[in-house]
Amino acid sequence: MDQYFKSYEELDIHQLMLSDKTRVLAYKTAIFNSREKFQGKIVMDVGAGSGILSIFCAQVGAKKVYAVEASMLAKSIEQVSIENNMQDKVEAIHSKVEDIRPDSLEKVDVIVSEWMGFHLVHEGMLDSVLFARDNFLHEDGLLFPSVAKLYASPCQLPSMYEFWNNVCGVSMSCIGKEYRKMKSLKPEILLLNQDDLLAEGKLLAWLDLKCVSVEEIDLLGGEDYVSVCEKDGRFQGMCIWFAVEFPDGSELSTGPRDEATHWKHTAVVLPEDMEVTRNEPIAFKLEFKRNESHPRRYNMELSLLDVEEVEHDVPCNCHMTKCIVTKKYIDDLDERESCAAENNDL
Ligand SMILES: C[S@@+](CC[C@H](N)C(=O)[O-])C[C@H]1O[C@@H](n2cnc3c(N)ncnc32)[C@H](O)[C@@H]1O
Ligand SMILES: [Zn+2]
Repeated sequence: MDQYFKSYEELDIHQLMLSDKTRVLAYKTAIFNSREKFQGKIVMDVGAGSGILSIFCAQVGAKKVYAVEASMLAKSIEQVSIENNMQDKVEAIHSKVEDIRPDSLEKVDVIVSEWMGFHLVHEGMLDSVLFARDNFLHEDGLLFPSVAKLYASPCQLPSMYEFWNNVCGVSMSCIGKEYRKMKSLKPEILLLNQDDLLAEGKLLAWLDLKCVSVEEIDLLGGEDYVSVCEKDGRFQGMCIWFAVEFPDGSELSTGPRDEATHWKHTAVVLPEDMEVTRNEPIAFKLEFKRNESHPRRYNMELSLLDVEEVEHDVPCNCHMTKCIVTKKYIDDLDERESCAAENNDL
């Protein structure tokens, strides 16, 4: 069997995911908030793992839940269903979802799936959810979650930089330099302190899971962005995180300003840092390209751009004259409009 599915036979991984309360409760809340969308309905749980999401769906009244799981854990789903007296509703299917013949199963009203990997797309499991959507979901069916968003922001990475400058009074910045050179070759998974975020997250990708195609997720990001520093600090890398939205409007967000999750954050480490000041613009491009020989992996490419050459948001809070002038013009316009509205009210 595929090594990917073998790795999901490790119960430690399931304990880690099930102990991530932010993750589990986000799904539970979204499902329980949408009772009417599950009652009497047929559901498919794509990559059901231990079966937790299938049980939630059964608990809110789904008529039938197909718990599709490719690893040997499919056997445990049957036992978990019995243990929770849901064996009449939850049917475990031990198979890759791609190997189920479309005409062998009725169409489903809802697909639930927890498919997100590090920096959203690592593991490439979204492809399988899109396959399930295209082959098993009714045309007007629902997906839980329904939207996925990918964010990035410039950040400080003290564990990569400051640490080496003073190790119990000994300066080791030369080793620190080598360490960062090595770390900048591939993304680093770590928990970033929210104080180390230098700016608000920029939305690199917004995926409507009802209609996005597999080809569209081969390349994410790729545009030019300008982040504006909210404080003085040292620009040492880019922090990447994601959020997903459910049909009830609730959100599971994994950024440094949210509750920590087992996905942590992904950092792209810069080999050399830069001092930055409040309102300073940082222009960048961050591309996620699917790795052709390992389609479950993505290569990330960060380019730092010239702030003079990249278009800034309108309005933009940065300290460049063109942005200060534009912002002042917009603020004055807003003020004149609100004065006019007040005069009309009198
Ligand atoms: C991130 S885990 C989520 C498990 C469970 N739904 C939960 O929330 O705890 C993803 C699971 O999907 C399974 N999986 C991934 N791709 C699959 C596919 N194409 N067909 C069936 N199962 C798949 C994996 O074996 C793994 O158990
Ligand atoms: Zn600007």
